[in-house]
Amino acid sequence: MTVESWPTRVCGTMVRMRVTPSTPTVYIVGAGGQLGTALQGRSAQAPDSVVCRPLTSADIDIADETSVAAALGDLGPDDVVVNCAAYTDVDGAESDVDGARRVNATGPAVLAAHTAAAGAWLIHVSTDYVFPGAAPASDRPDGYEPDDVSGEPATVYGATKLAGERAVLDADPRATVVRTAWVYTGGPESRDFVGTMRRLEQARETVSVVDDQLGSPTYCIDLADGLWELVAAGPRAEVAGAVLHATNAGRATWFDVAAAVFEEVGAERSRVLPTTTAEFPRPAPRPAYSVLSGRSWAAAGLTPLRDWRAALHASIAESEGSLP
Ligand SMILES: NC(=O)c1ccc[n+]([C@@H]2O[C@H](COP(=O)([O-])OP(=O)(O)OC[C@H]3O[C@@H](n4cnc5c(N)ncnc54)[C@H](OP(=O)(O)O)[C@@H]3O)[C@@H](O)[C@H]2O)c1
Repeated sequence: MTVESWPTRVCGTMVRMRVTPSTPTVYIVGAGGQLGTALQGRSAQAPDSVVCRPLTSADIDIADETSVAAALGDLGPDDVVVNCAAYTDVDGAESDVDGARRVNATGPAVLAAHTAAAGAWLIHVSTDYVFPGAAPASDRPDGYEPDDVSGEPATVYGATKLAGERAVLDADPRATVVRTAWVYTGGPESRDFVGTMRRLEQARETVSVVDDQLGSPTYCIDLADGLWELVAAGPRAEVAGAVLHATNAGRATWFDVAAAVFEEVGAERSRVLPTTTAEFPRPAPRPAYSVLSGRSWAAAGLTPLRDWRAALHASIAESEGSLP
């Protein structure tokens, strides 16, 4: 049986095509956010013949069973749901525990129940903040491995995201959890760290940035390409029920990232001054060390994401249109 044709999105282009019940569909949930937008923008990386269905928070409330049933009513065994929806206000979550739990834990559980019932593949995106982050770096110089989570996350955001991971794998043992970290797009208008540093470079003579938190800065476009590669490779045994880490390679402090941004825009890196977390107390304590190892990603046969410094260079060059 052929379903009515309707305008849809194939490989990033709005086209009118005939969609049959067997046309594999990739639902991008959280499509209005940073990663969801990048996934749509990079959908040329999607396998041929896959249909992309972006779902924003206007189309689906992941924590509401009725809303999920309506938005994913057609879900079938060839379909993929990439969940980029999350409550990402890390400081705000400290005083809105119920709100964070609803989106980061209940929502993924509801999605996983639906994908499990339909036999579809759920790819759920999570975070380095599931690690308490106090472990000395010397224990894990190449970063944490997926099974290293022990102890409670230090923040409500991290705790609710960890609860979401566990709920997903409980409800749908074929799902794949992909943790990432320190995601930025880097455009001059973007609200992420790199965009903020670009604006501060214009506005201030010096900027003080914490130099005692080590993590894995990740260019959102590289992450989106990695997720499309994962989708294209399919729900194989290596990734079914697995937790994978997908970040740009290497490690850096926020100070390192800020200094690199200044270099990239032709400013003196000495205008970025190192400071400490103690000097900048925030409602949610940031992990001192949350570097993620890329070993699980490579072991699943996926292309390692390039080094963070090369990715930062590319992000700024691409936002200025100076890379092809
Ligand atoms: N950004 C980072 O540095 C970072 C680091 C590590 C991991 N991650 C993870 O990466 C994923 C994507 O993050 P991101 O940076 O793209 O976040 P984002 O820009 O904040 O996007 C999150 C999206 O989720 C939507 N959303 C919120 N509640 C929803 C609900 N109940 N139902 C449906 N949609 C809902 C939001 O819509 P509205 O805006 O309309 O509410 C927003 O479009 C998340 O899982 C996040 O935890 C991000």
